[in-house]
Amino acid sequence: MTVHIKTPQEIEKMRVAGRLASEVLDYITPFVVAGVTTEELDVLCHNYMVDVQKTIPAPLNYAPAGHSPFPKSICTSVNNQICHGIPGERKLKNGDIINIDVTVISQGYHGDTSRMFYVGEPSIQARRLCEVTFEAMWRGIDNIKPGKHLGDIGHAIQKLAEGVGYSVVREFCGHGIGAKFHEDPQVLHYGRAGAGLELKAGMIFTIEPMINAGKAAIRHLPDGWTITTKDGSLSAQWEHTVLVTEDGYEVLTMSAGAPAKPVFRFAN
Ligand code: MF3
Ligand code: CO
Ligand code: CO
Repeated sequence: MTVHIKTPQEIEKMRVAGRLASEVLDYITPFVVAGVTTEELDVLCHNYMVDVQKTIPAPLNYAPAGHSPFPKSICTSVNNQICHGIPGERKLKNGDIINIDVTVISQGYHGDTSRMFYVGEPSIQARRLCEVTFEAMWRGIDNIKPGKHLGDIGHAIQKLAEGVGYSVVREFCGHGIGAKFHEDPQVLHYGRAGAGLELKAGMIFTIEPMINAGKAAIRHLPDGWTITTKDGSLSAQWEHTVLVTEDGYEVLTMSAGAPAKPVFRFAN
């Protein structure tokens, strides 16, 4: 495993890419309403990235080993869909929850971030799942500092999620990111405190926990990309791209509309 320590010049480009990715989510927010199709959201984001930002949507035609090329510019994962949902003709309806995952390439560097959105009024259970998952991501981020270990991040996320009766998806993880979309290290969203790779200033990786209201097991849809819960339960995910600094962390995927770090309030 080679974990790339970014140079100051690379870090500056990653700051720009991160902010731009987050600004795509700011831009799309008012369009996430009942009646819109996920494909319409994809086209809006695609055009904003390409025409306004002059960035490249990294998912479009992305084809890691064993996968067909991803056919769209963003991922849209609704309700029991965990991640990698392909935008299509599905119309959002009142009460749905949806994850929109945006990755842009700017000056050759990637910014990767996702948020949960409510379509109209969510159920109490759906809102709680999204809020717990948001806090779980931030509890992971809060463990980032030189000398800490990747296991501290995973442990903090797992402890919160399982402590309130949810489960952590195991098959997908956060990842190093830079000139490549996915690079070392793998950032598991579960684990043991003090275990795993020691963090060093200049590392950049994502934290993107997928939390299921029911069991952790997943199912692959025949479209080759979409992942759903096996038991049909709701799933939520949030993602930030984060830099390890000399004395802690800097979240790179921030923008005017990005929700701030929360006051921690769930049991753990
Ligand atoms: N953005 C996703 C991540 O957080 C990856 C999506 S790959 C795609 O790592 F091909 F589905 F877009
Ligand atoms: Co990612
Ligand atoms: Co992502």
